[in-house]
Amino acid sequence: MDAVELKGVTKKFGSNVIAVDAIDLGVPDGAFVTLLGPSGCGKTTSLRMVAGLEHPTAGEITIKGKRVNEIPIHKRNLGMVFQNYALFPHKTIFDNVAFGLKYRNVSKSEIAERVRRAIDIVRLPGVEERFPTQLSGGQQQRIALARALVIEPDVLLLDEPLSALDANLREEMRGEIKAIQRRIGVTAIFVTHDQGEALAMSDLVVVMNQGRIEQMGAPAEVYEQPRSEFVANFLGNANFLPATVSAVEAGNVQVALRDGTRLMVGGAARTLAPGEPVKVVIRAEKMVLGAEGALSGAIVAVDYLGATARYDVELSGGEKLMALATIRDGTRRVGEQVRIGVAPEHCRIL
Ligand SMILES: Nc1ncnc2c1ncn2[C@@H]1O[C@H](COP(=O)(O)OP(=O)(O)OP(=O)(O)O)[C@@H](O)[C@H]1O
Ligand SMILES: [Mg+2]
Repeated sequence: MDAVELKGVTKKFGSNVIAVDAIDLGVPDGAFVTLLGPSGCGKTTSLRMVAGLEHPTAGEITIKGKRVNEIPIHKRNLGMVFQNYALFPHKTIFDNVAFGLKYRNVSKSEIAERVRRAIDIVRLPGVEERFPTQLSGGQQQRIALARALVIEPDVLLLDEPLSALDANLREEMRGEIKAIQRRIGVTAIFVTHDQGEALAMSDLVVVMNQGRIEQMGAPAEVYEQPRSEFVANFLGNANFLPATVSAVEAGNVQVALRDGTRLMVGGAARTLAPGEPVKVVIRAEKMVLGAEGALSGAIVAVDYLGATARYDVELSGGEKLMALATIRDGTRRVGEQVRIGVAPEHCRIL
């Protein structure tokens, strides 16, 4: 059974804003599921409906098999962590973490024990008597996590909990949150617009766009097998080449680019017929620049990125491509002629 299930869940604000548009989603028990999508696509609204902070306009939400539409927030047993840690500034760390237990009829000694354990889990023993301002941003966010975990929630809801942290800390914390979730086995729904975060942390990525679910699947699946231009674009650097199907044989598809260049294509999401106009998707890091390859063109721009370089290449047919390459001995130069090889399995037709 799924820990959380959304069936046809819709949220309208007023008469013309459809924030969430009839989504169906099952969150497996113990899984780490991420809602990923651009600003305004309905991630927070979806999470707030699971939490009980927002009431669905239509549809049904179940938690552990029980319909919760009519159940108020404090009776849903959920842990929540938001972007701005939202710790109480005038309470000690101990009181902040203990807060969720106060109204739960838990004895004083048990509160002390559970707070100690929660602070241990987030690896901050010894900070109990401090105040939030005496902790760093990353430490405060860990305390917010401890406060959410102390009640032993059925589901942990996290809305962009790392976005206030700097890049290094973000990466450290994403590993830590994931490790904690794994260790205690709590079901988690995580919201982010950061694709790297989503791919690194999730068992299941749910890509949202304009209130709808575009695609969901394991990280490698949504990345390697995008089903739409939106998903291909949002997850990583994708190139789209207009082409015409020139041959279909035993599952192998050959396409012709504008200048007649032939390219073998591995994956197609549907059946194709010769003569059909298509778009071929190739990720920037799957292209191999060198002396060989089906495509040829000239480098028109180079961005040095440290470990990698980003090349803009203009093909002989006029199309522009972006290629990412690991830097070994310096970068290539603008104006240089190159050939580009790309394996059939890395060319996909949507
Ligand atoms: N209380 C509200 N009243 C009116 N419209 C709202 C309200 N809350 C959200 N919306 C609208 O609903 C849509 C979805 O908003 P939501 O906050 O869920 O997006 P999001 O995916 O979390 O975006 P972000 O990445 O910017 O946080 C947006 O168009 C937003 O303007
Ligand atoms: Mg949001």
